[in-house]
Amino acid sequence: MTQFLLSRLALHLSRTSSLEGVTATRAIKVLGLGGSLRDGSQSERALRTALAGAEEAGATTTAVTGQQLVLPFYDAGVEERTAEAVRLVEAIREADGVIIVSPGYHGTVTGLVKNALDYVEDLREDTRPYLHGRAVGLIAVAHGWQAAVTTLDQMRTVAHALRGWPTPMGGAVNSAEVKFDSSGGASDEKVANNLRLIGRQVAEFGLAQASAEFPASR
Ligand SMILES: Cc1cc2nc3c(=O)[nH]c(=O)nc-3n(C[C@H](O)[C@H](O)[C@H](O)COP(=O)(O)O)c2cc1C
Repeated sequence: MTQFLLSRLALHLSRTSSLEGVTATRAIKVLGLGGSLRDGSQSERALRTALAGAEEAGATTTAVTGQQLVLPFYDAGVEERTAEAVRLVEAIREADGVIIVSPGYHGTVTGLVKNALDYVEDLREDTRPYLHGRAVGLIAVAHGWQAAVTTLDQMRTVAHALRGWPTPMGGAVNSAEVKFDSSGGASDEKVANNLRLIGRQVAEFGLAQASAEFPASR
């Protein structure tokens, strides 16, 4: 029995030490997805802030935003995909973690962002199906608290349905009260810090998963 407990402790410590250094044998990849098509999109700027948090934690980041999200309505009945859709699906496939940001439109996720998320269906046959094993940082940006909160809640539901792991911190941003500028700053530093923390949590979960090397399950 003592031998068993010691071996469990040794396993725990080996995993803990790989987390403490926040270093992995390979870089953790965090993909940012979302925003709107508007010039100066506040939700895209919120996404960039969260990605900066992931980078501060040592992750490499990429983003799929704006026109890159303009895809045909997802059609499960056809196999052809546009080049942009293939790029999106490949980016999600390669990611260790994802940050998704949506404006709140009429109290919920925009069609633009939801349609992009529908393409995760193309990962259903993968060894890591859907968002399996990936942390998902979720941020909703709306011109009032009610839609910010309801949109965030619905994004969590979608992330769970896609088998992702929503991070403990989520972002409900009221764009009537905080403004993001084009250089990564925000009029309320507390909000920016919260978004960076979401990015950090996505990167840290990715690192923990990569260190643990769980066998893939379907
Ligand atoms: C079609 C549409 C619907 C919207 N619906 C809501 C809403 O229900 N509640 C709300 O607070 N804001 C609503 N907004 C405001 C946006 O959520 C808000 O301006 C957000 O910051 C836009 O993000 P963006 O700057 O990235 O485009 C709506 C905006 C549009 C264009």
